[in-house]
Amino acid sequence: MSVTNREVTIDSPSALLSSLADGRCTTDALFDIVRRDSLYERPIPERHRIVFYIGHLEAFDRNLLNGRLLSLRDSSPELDRLFAFGIDPVGGGLPTDQPSDWPSLDIVRHYVQQVRDEIDEGLTHLQDTNGGEFPAALLLNVAIEHRLMHAETLAYMLHRLPYDHKNAPAGAPQLTPARPQTAMVEVPAVPLLWACPVTATLSDGTTSMNGTPSTSTRSRSIVIRRRTPNI
Ligand SMILES: [Fe+2]
Repeated sequence: MSVTNREVTIDSPSALLSSLADGRCTTDALFDIVRRDSLYERPIPERHRIVFYIGHLEAFDRNLLNGRLLSLRDSSPELDRLFAFGIDPVGGGLPTDQPSDWPSLDIVRHYVQQVRDEIDEGLTHLQDTNGGEFPAALLLNVAIEHRLMHAETLAYMLHRLPYDHKNAPAGAPQLTPARPQTAMVEVPAVPLLWACPVTATLSDGTTSMNGTPSTSTRSRSIVIRRRTPNI
């Protein structure tokens, strides 16, 4: 995709748009780690709930590019503002907002897709717009850097989320092995060889004690428990 402007030329348009797309994939993959029913958790008390960051990344891009590089419709001004600033804590302490204070996941996901579609549509037709105060490459790099910065902080934030709130990657080993299978097995009786002591007199008159094997009896069969771990 070529993105140029009569007054502002993006030096590496394909590279910038590719980086923006890669950044979206990176943050999408991070959110996919979290189980759907845990996206309103707050792994770090001082930070926002996870759902805020899902909308925040798109709200930032929209608020950054709209009016400076693109002319976008005001489709969801309330969500633009909510995901730009979050919900401020009362009294300056730790955040106290509840999951019910946030839009449903369907609304948030729809907002994300809507913003991405509007931005991508605008970037496709960027050559028809006039240049603004800031170079397009600068604005796109700010959007990319902001997203990657949040990818880094999301990574350590999600590290604080308990395992049972996360989706295991495909093919990952089970962390809690199943109880081992047990079964009783019989060990059959076998012949026993006993070494019988024999004293011999040697040519120098001394004696030597040797063992001479001979079959004397059979063992009794026994039953033991066999444990087979399930890994
Ligand atoms: Fe941010």
